[in-house]
Amino acid sequence: MDSVINYIKSNINSYVNELLDYIRIPSISTLESHKNEMQRCAEFISNKIKNAGMNSVEIFQTEGHPIVYGEWLEAPGKPTVLIYGHYDVQPVDPLELWNNPPFEPVIKDGKIWARGANDDKGQAFVHVKSVEAFFKTKGKLPLNVKFILEGEEEIGSENLTKFLSTHQELLRCDAILISDTNMYQPGVPTITYGLRGLLYMEVEVTGPNRDLHSGSFGGAVANPINELAKIIYKLHDKNGKATIPNFYKDVLKLTKTERDNFKRLKHSDKNFAKVLDVKELQGEKGFTTLERIWTRPTLDCNGIIGGFTEKGAKTVLPSKASAKISMRLVPNQDPKKIAKEFEKHVRALASKSIKVDVRTLHYGYPVVAPLNSDAIKAAAVATSKAFGKKTVYTREGGSIPVVVDFMKKLNAPAVLMGLGLDSDNIHSPNEHFRIENFELGILSSAYFLDEFSKV
Ligand code: BES
Ligand code: ZN
Repeated sequence: MDSVINYIKSNINSYVNELLDYIRIPSISTLESHKNEMQRCAEFISNKIKNAGMNSVEIFQTEGHPIVYGEWLEAPGKPTVLIYGHYDVQPVDPLELWNNPPFEPVIKDGKIWARGANDDKGQAFVHVKSVEAFFKTKGKLPLNVKFILEGEEEIGSENLTKFLSTHQELLRCDAILISDTNMYQPGVPTITYGLRGLLYMEVEVTGPNRDLHSGSFGGAVANPINELAKIIYKLHDKNGKATIPNFYKDVLKLTKTERDNFKRLKHSDKNFAKVLDVKELQGEKGFTTLERIWTRPTLDCNGIIGGFTEKGAKTVLPSKASAKISMRLVPNQDPKKIAKEFEKHVRALASKSIKVDVRTLHYGYPVVAPLNSDAIKAAAVATSKAFGKKTVYTREGGSIPVVVDFMKKLNAPAVLMGLGLDSDNIHSPNEHFRIENFELGILSSAYFLDEFSKV
């Protein structure tokens, strides 16, 4: 392994430069206007995979954004790893809060600053480079590898989910390796074994058939913004629980072992609040912060639209208002069932003087991977070798919707080898990725391929 490791260390600068080119492509999946950029980005990364040494590299077109695939299956008798990542990124707004244009990456303080630097271009790219380092130094890989990179993770992975059903054989593997999560703390190698699911809804409230003068009509006609705010308010009770009937019915109870494991991680609520500039934390009564984020379902309003939002003042009673409301789900909640309960509940909460429309935007299932799989054990050894520290196990509050489908359809464990930090501002202005973590990630990936080849 020494030659591979040394090769990576001596080439890190050019790896960073290649990553910068990757980041420069504004692959925002949710924007219709960026369709061409998505195709360009798929071509870029498929070339990188090809040049790294992978065979049969192919771009599969879908009803949405393209899927990039590549394989190298010349290690008969050895396990097969499927490496998953996403080349799409989140929108960049609010633009004025960025210190540099989001798709013009800047290196400062040992970090790459740009949209996608971390989530997930930087994180997924580590595996392309570790594979390349094996080919360059040894001419082969220690096991079989398949790459699958999608462009719809940030919008729910609808087309990859379909692709999985029709290409089960192509994707068959012994483990799924993913870097798209966070480390517990800087310098602490982390394997994540659980992700929350997600259910994303939109609620639109309509009052009068047109915008009205708030003086001539205010007080006599229901205001959709006021009514929507009342509904949102009633979605939680005073103990921080969601009020949707049956919301908690299928939630798996935390085991004592898991609770104890979390306690051992010594989470500091004080620091957590401090870095966010909030006076105190709040959430569901009876649970610690880590339990709330990693293991409990939650409900949040992500955006609210309505009325006059420009600078200045306008006296208006708007005809419509809408809200984007998402729920993070945990095993064994079923997003489809919860969607029905949510809609019923919102209708029940609404006043008769307004009309309510409820739509599901997308959903994904929660997941907990078995901690005792060979793949997770190999990943713990690998990350510990790279970082020179003991690896910790965490769950995460975020979601990667396709992970459950991978595990079920391919009957293989997922290994979440995260390289981001909570403080990296993913989905937010000034997203960044530590170059140190990029390098340690490539090393972790190389050690993993080596370790897992031995099982
Ligand atoms: N990389 C994140 C997932 C993540 C973030 C895991 C933080 C752990 C910690 C991923 O790209 C993401 O943001 N996923 C979306 C999925 C959704 C749009 C279906 C999410 O969690 O909001
Ligand atoms: Zn991501």
